[in-house]
Amino acid sequence: MPEENLVLSLILLSLFESIHDSNFVKALPPTYLAQARDLANWHEYNIFSSPQLNGVGKIAGRTILPSILNGFATIANPSGPLKNFYQAISYKPFISLFNMTGIAE
Ligand SMILES: *[C@@H]1O[C@H](CO)[C@@H](O)[C@H](O)[C@H]1NC(C)=O
Repeated sequence: MPEENLVLSLILLSLFESIHDSNFVKALPPTYLAQARDLANWHEYNIFSSPQLNGVGKIAGRTILPSILNGFATIANPSGPLKNFYQAISYKPFISLFNMTGIAE
């Protein structure tokens, strides 16, 4: 919906400005930044989670799982030299994985 997109754009702009312009933060009403963060967290959580395992919100987690499982398999292979595995992911697959596994409940 256009109104939702406008509200989200304003929230993201506020968060961006708060990081880059301390005068902007001082001009905000006292609870505004915390409210904007809560709304942004709510928005992202609901995009990257889903009640169904095959839901669209689980795509980020399902996409990263094979790479993580291959990393475990490679480390667990006693004849393989790899004993460390580094996987850098953004918050999106984390939200998705935490929701899939219920690990944050
Ligand atoms: C996953 O997210 C959905 C909302 O998108 C929620 O209904 C469900 O309870 C969440 N599951 C867990 C285990 O957090």
